[in-house]
Amino acid sequence: MFDAELEIVERRPFVLVRSLLVVHTLPIAESDQNVWCGRRNANRFPPATLTTAMTATDDWTTERMGDLSDRTVVVTGANSGLGFQAAKAFASHGADVVLACRSVERGVDAGERIRNVAPATRLTVIELDLADLASIRAFATNFADTHDELHVLCNNAGVMAVPYGETADGFETQFGVNHLGHFALTGLLLDELRDTEGETRVVTQSSALHENGTIDFDSVARSADRQREESYDKWAAYGQSKLANVLFAYELQRRLRASGVESVASVACHPGYADTNLQKRGPEQAGSTLGLLGMKIANAVIGQDAVTGVLPLLYAATADDVDGGEYVGPGGIGNLRGQPETQRSSDRSYDETTAGRLWDVSENLTGVHYDLDSN
Ligand SMILES: NC(=O)c1ccc[n+]([C@@H]2O[C@H](COP(=O)([O-])OP(=O)(O)OC[C@H]3O[C@@H](n4cnc5c(N)ncnc54)[C@H](OP(=O)(O)O)[C@@H]3O)[C@@H](O)[C@H]2O)c1
Repeated sequence: MFDAELEIVERRPFVLVRSLLVVHTLPIAESDQNVWCGRRNANRFPPATLTTAMTATDDWTTERMGDLSDRTVVVTGANSGLGFQAAKAFASHGADVVLACRSVERGVDAGERIRNVAPATRLTVIELDLADLASIRAFATNFADTHDELHVLCNNAGVMAVPYGETADGFETQFGVNHLGHFALTGLLLDELRDTEGETRVVTQSSALHENGTIDFDSVARSADRQREESYDKWAAYGQSKLANVLFAYELQRRLRASGVESVASVACHPGYADTNLQKRGPEQAGSTLGLLGMKIANAVIGQDAVTGVLPLLYAATADDVDGGEYVGPGGIGNLRGQPETQRSSDRSYDETTAGRLWDVSENLTGVHYDLDSN
């Protein structure tokens, strides 16, 4: 698909030049407080170039995403790794893509790289720092000001095994960014998802490491009151945050249905193991050269590339045969790589009591209360 689109770009240099000019003639400073918008371009890809016949094998490839030119998609962490590949794939299929990035500069850089392969689609960079509830609220306002619809929300951004830290609101960083930030974001965008015509989806990126996770409600409840640094286990905290992602995705699905909302589906996914910046952040922040080397070797030996690693997210976001409440991951060896398929997550992730308690705690900590009434 990308090759085909690059061909289109080469055959239509005017579109490429014009699109690049759109990027370059809208400096961030002139845009509305941290919002950078590419102008909607009338030269959308015609559907014929997007809807490609399925391959002879059963492989699910991005070609099967079809024509998304009537869809608006938000991707958190869209400037790097899996989020970047997701944004690029959505844009290549004609979607109106919002790159939700904590650095507008990195977001615009990513947008320009996406422009090279998808010159005819609308791209918007909106600042979003998931470690700051004020930034999440500002994102939701900026999104509503610039967009009328939201078809797919990809809760993708994340940090892994970083040293102890706290968000602007005093939550332990991994739980705060990976879970609470996305919990708040989804709640604040729920009206847009619900009001958009047709089926809309929330896709929450978890990890196979959610299987090691447990929710320590004592420490979570205290996180607004400072979790103790001395007892911090960075891998346990990551597992906890990723279990919270799955518990949240399933609980959202249950609450949507219980309140009679049939049009929004909530799906969880995981990428297996993909070679991205994720693995470097922890050792970099800890100043561990050995840790960084170990991660580099593991990435080279075990990791698949991000283009393949993002397939479960893209499948969860677009495939007709995915239902709300499902969990999608790669079906190859050890579920670390390969083709996307629906899978069973850990037993703990299906515990509705824990999920309900986590929901209440998350509402209290973030102050974002979902407008969902049980019938
Ligand atoms: N790669 C894997 O093997 C793997 C495995 C399991 C699960 N996952 C999950 O996949 C997701 C994407 O990770 P990745 O592998 O693509 O890693 P990545 O390349 O490091 O990308 C992570 C993205 O999240 C963003 N981010 C971090 N903190 C943020 C914050 N406070 N607010 C907003 N955005 C923030 C990063 O922004 P900056 O660039 O500004 O830091 C970056 O864009 C994560 O949720 C991760 O847990 C990945």
